[in-house]
Amino acid sequence: MATNEAFIPNLPVIDLESVCQELADSGRRVKVLWQHPGSLAFVARGREYRSEFHVNASDEVTYMIKGTMHLHYRTQDGEEHVAVIPQGSSNWMPPNTEHSPRFPPDAFALIIERHRTEGEIDRFRWYCPSCKAFLHEEQANVSDYSVDPVGRAYRNFFYNEDHRTCKACGHVMPNAMAESEANRLGAQA
Ligand SMILES: [Fe+2]
Repeated sequence: MATNEAFIPNLPVIDLESVCQELADSGRRVKVLWQHPGSLAFVARGREYRSEFHVNASDEVTYMIKGTMHLHYRTQDGEEHVAVIPQGSSNWMPPNTEHSPRFPPDAFALIIERHRTEGEIDRFRWYCPSCKAFLHEEQANVSDYSVDPVGRAYRNFFYNEDHRTCKACGHVMPNAMAESEANRLGAQA
């Protein structure tokens, strides 16, 4: 038998139900299941403030463990569509699709991508909810999903009013992330 550096004597078998429970109990949004060059998998809990479109150069497979996802995506000419993925259903998306997976905090998705290559950049784009003009783009090197790079990109956007102000129509998008965090703190008090 040829030697294989990646050989793992005990292949991981992960109980998704337990992972969902762990996320629900801890309030965390993401749990990484594995990260290897050819495959990256994580379970995500919905973010109620999620409105941006993510662009990355990896195929993406979604499986809805619990709840329904409204997967908004934009065609190359900027037209917005929605794929509805009910519980127990799966979806494949080609690389570089501008996509915005919207699902509530009590819904859970298994996402399978590939690990980013060195220097690869993910993009997060927001559009004005009033006139649909481009608002802002955050870029991130998503080399380690366990440090929640997505949450960091959202924080950079939402906590900067200039980023949320539309240069075309003047509309100021509310800081939905701050509202969500205030509600959570209120619920814990
Ligand atoms: Fe606008």
